[in-house]
Amino acid sequence: MNNMRVAVIVKPNHSGLPQEIEILSQCHHRNIAPLLHSVVEESHYGIILPYLQRNPKGGTTRTQYARDILQALQYLHESLGVLHGDIKPDNIMYSAEEGRWMLIDFNHAEILPAEPGGVRKVYGVRGTRGFMAPEVENETEGYDEAIDMWSLGRTLQVCFGTPTCSAEPSWDALRKLVQRLLITKPTDRPSARMALQLLK
Ligand SMILES: Nc1ncnc2c1ncn2[C@@H]1O[C@H](COP(=O)(O)OP(=O)(O)OP(=O)(O)O)[C@@H](O)[C@H]1O
Ligand SMILES: [Mg+2]
Repeated sequence: MNNMRVAVIVKPNHSGLPQEIEILSQCHHRNIAPLLHSVVEESHYGIILPYLQRNPKGGTTRTQYARDILQALQYLHESLGVLHGDIKPDNIMYSAEEGRWMLIDFNHAEILPAEPGGVRKVYGVRGTRGFMAPEVENETEGYDEAIDMWSLGRTLQVCFGTPTCSAEPSWDALRKLVQRLLITKPTDRPSARMALQLLK
C-alpha cells in the first residue's frame, strides 16, 4: 500500500459479518474495486479501497464505461452467482491508476441460492428508486440477477441521455442495448455476456 491513495468508507453494521465484506472479499476482478482491508466493530464497519474518481480527467468513451461494468457484472453473475443490487452512477467510479471503471458499494449485494431444481431467487426491496427494476419495485415473487441489467440500462440512459446519433462508432449498438436492458420482462433482458456480445 506504499504511497497508494486509499478511501476509507465507514458504514453502520447490522449483522455480525457484514454481507458487503463477505462478498467483496471474494471478488477478484479488474472492474471491481479491490478490498484492501476491512475492520468490523459492533455498530460500524470500515472498508479500505484504492482511491477512485467520479469522473476521469481526459474522459472515456461511453462504450468503455458500459463494457467495464458489463465485465464486472458477467463475473459477479456467472463466476460468483452474486447480484449487486444497487447499480447506479454513484456506485461506478474510475481508477486513474488503472485506467478503467470499477464497481463499488456491495451493501445490497446478495448470493443467489444455488438450488438443484434451478430456481434462483432472492426477495425484498433493495436498490435505489429510479434505478430499480420493475420486479424489485413491485416485489411479490422474488427476482434474480436480471435486476442488475435493468439498473445498468437506467444508468446508461441517465449518464448519456438518448441522442439519436453520435460520433462514437458503437453509439448505435449502445443505444439499442439500453432499449433491450429496459425490457420489463426479466427473462427477455440480455445477460451481461449477451450484452457484451451486442457491443462488439
Ligand atoms: N474507492 C473510493 N474512492 C473514492 N471515493 C469513494 C470510494 N468508494 C466510495 N467512495 C465515495 O463514498 C460514497 C459512499 O460509498 P458507498 O457507495 O460504498 O456507500 P453508500 O452509498 O453511502 O452506502 P450504502 O452502502 O448504504 O449504499 C460513494 O458514493 C463515493 O462518493
Ligand atoms: Mg453507494
